[in-house]
Formats: sequence, structure tokens, C-alpha cells
Amino acid sequence: MQKLKVAIIGCGKIASLRHAPEYQMNPNVEIVGFYDVDCTRAKSLSEYFGGQAFSSLSDLIASDAEAVSVCTANIHHAQNTIQLLKAGKHVLCEKPMAVTPHECEEMVLEAKKCGKHLLIGLNQRFSAAHTQAREMIVRGDIGKALSFHTCFAHPGPEIWTGMNNTWFFDKHIAAFGAMADLGVHKVDLIHYLLGEHISSVTAQLRTIDKKLPTGELISVDDNGMCILETPSGVIGQLHVSWTNYGQEDNSTTIYGTEGVIKLYADPDHSLVLEKKDGTVIKENPDHQLTNEDQLAGKLQNTGVIDEFVSAILDNRPSRLDASESIHAMRDLFASAQSSDFGKKIHIYEE
Ligand SMILES: NC(=O)c1ccc[n+]([C@@H]2O[C@H](COP(=O)([O-])OP(=O)(O)OC[C@H]3O[C@@H](n4cnc5c(N)ncnc54)[C@H](O)[C@@H]3O)[C@@H](O)[C@H]2O)c1
Repeated sequence: MQKLKVAIIGCGKIASLRHAPEYQMNPNVEIVGFYDVDCTRAKSLSEYFGGQAFSSLSDLIASDAEAVSVCTANIHHAQNTIQLLKAGKHVLCEKPMAVTPHECEEMVLEAKKCGKHLLIGLNQRFSAAHTQAREMIVRGDIGKALSFHTCFAHPGPEIWTGMNNTWFFDKHIAAFGAMADLGVHKVDLIHYLLGEHISSVTAQLRTIDKKLPTGELISVDDNGMCILETPSGVIGQLHVSWTNYGQEDNSTTIYGTEGVIKLYADPDHSLVLEKKDGTVIKENPDHQLTNEDQLAGKLQNTGVIDEFVSAILDNRPSRLDASESIHAMRDLFASAQSSDFGKKIHIYEE
């Protein structure tokens, strides 16, 4: 079988800890090269993972790469992705998809126009406990979903990037803070678990504590608190934080008429089902890695790269298709609007 030729643009943390190792582990892939504005980074990944270090994006585009991971900073996602799609490449773009509603719509339209796969790296849909929980909800194990609580809170991206003055804190490059970094994962997860999109959001996005080395508060949100509703009447709470200086919290609880599913809430059991009749089933399909685990060299295949490759090779739709991920971005933009105007924002389906 002919191998899929892939390349990566943006050779920082997510490229080196997830994309490149997962491409290398996939037997149907050949890595043809890397590009980064910092050529030493592209060179270092090409020496470790194989392929060449391209000296420009045009060189990458002119190469025989059929599929490309976009792992640049948020502000570049849309431009990189659209340029690659127009050049006939399939694209896996990191989250958040882009920084404006218009950019997100354009990306989806361009993928459709070019007939190429465009997936977004919302990896929480592939954690084993989340996949199992979705099957249990569909099977009716907790009856009808009524409400939920979901949280993603860690000490902040400076631990991940190793830089106190990271671009994640700069509004002109990141556009949003904790809500875009962590919140998009969680709203997308809720869409996946409940099988419906969020229809309204009431949010407060704040910069409470996170400071630059100069002592000034960062220019993006470091905490977000949202009340979310779905068309079927489910109501839930989302908390995101870059100022959790204790143990990372990446948990979700779904409350239903017949029981409760708790995900990554118990350190020894990533999935706990508590039934209305008092039965408790504890399982441990996987252990979710924290940022610190990954920085310490622990690798866990997220399933995102394998999904991208197989969606292309089998020419089939994916649960990571941008046309689905865009709903999480609509929630994100609505949360910012709600916070700015102090009111509930309704999100309309196209
Ligand atoms: N899925 C996840 O859970 C997850 C986790 C971490 C980061 N991310 C996302 O991945 C993206 C990258 O994050 P990171 O942590 O790897 O950041 P990083 O700063 O470590 O890496 C970004 C790299 O992109 C390069 N770059 C910037 N602009 C470029 C351009 N125009 N052309 C080529 N290269 C360019 C930089 O030089 C840098 O090497 C972000 O959008 C981030 O939100 C996703």
C-alpha cells in the first residue's frame, strides 16, 4: 500500500510531542518534512523524525506532501490552512480552529470547495473514557441527560511552553486565553457526549491573576465560567482556568434521569457510573495525561493523527471534521460576546 506523505508546519511543542511522534508510529505514513519560521526547529524535528527541513512554506507546498498538520500559533491557522487547501493538501489544523467567525467559515467552505479533508485537533473526542461514555449515553445507561459540569483547569501555558512570556498571553497572537485554549475542548466534548450542540451561553471571561514578567496582567482571559444550554433542555456549567496551581482538573460529569457518569474525576478510575438504584461501576479505560506528564516524556497516542490518516485513506467523514468543530468555535465566540455585553447569547444552527 502506498504511504500517505505528510508534512508539519509549526515545529513547537504540540508538533514535537504529539503530531510528529504519532505520524512516526503510523505504518501508513511517510514524513516528508517540516517547516517553521525558526529554521532550527524544523531542522531539529527533521533530524529526529526524518524528512527534510523546508526553508519556506512555498517549498513545503511545492513538495509531494499530500497532507499537512498546521501547528502554528492561533493567529496563523486560517491563512496557513486556506493556502494549503488551495494547493491541494489535506489539512489537520490545531485548535482553536482560527480567531474570527469569518475565518472559521472560510476554512470550512474552502475545504468543501477543494474537496479536501480538513480536521481540527480536538483530541478529547478520542480519550478512551470519553468514547466509552458516549456509547453508554447512546445506550441509555443514564437515561435522559439533564445537566452537566465540565472543567479544564491547570497552572497555565507557561508550564507547557517553558516561557513566562509566551505568545499564549498575547491577544494579538492568541486572540483568546483559557477559554480558547481549554474551553473549546470542553464544549466540543459536550457536543460529542450529548449528541447535540449548545444553543445558548452566558459567560464571564476574566483576567484575574496571571501576570507577565513585568507584573502587568496578561491581555487575555485566565479564567472563564459559563452556563450552557442545549436545544433539548440540558443545562450545564463549564469552568476553565489557567490559575489552578494544584493538581490539573480535566473532569466532566453528566447527570441523567437514571444515573450519573463521572469522567476523569476519580484518580484511579477514569470512568465511574453511579446508577439511580445505588449500583456503582468503576472502570479505568485509560489515564488521561496532564501537560506535565507529556513534558516529562510520557506519550499516549491521542488517536487524532491515526484518525486524520485513515479519514484520508478511506475517504470518509470524521468526528473531527471542521464542519463539526466549528460549532465549538461558535460557542467560544458567543462566550466572549456574552462576557463583553453581560447577557445570554443564543447560538443559531445554520
Ligand atoms: N490539541 C491540544 O490539546 C493542544 C495542546 C497544545 C497546543 N495546541 C495548539 O497548537 C498550536 C501550537 O501550540 P504549541 O504549544 O506547539 O506552540 P509553540 O509556540 O511551542 O509552537 C508554535 C511554533 O510555530 C512556529 N510558527 C509561528 N508562526 C509560524 C508561521 N507563520 N509559519 C511557520 N511557523 C510558525 C513557531 O516558531 C513555533 O515553533 C496552538 O494553536 C495551540 O493552541 C493544541
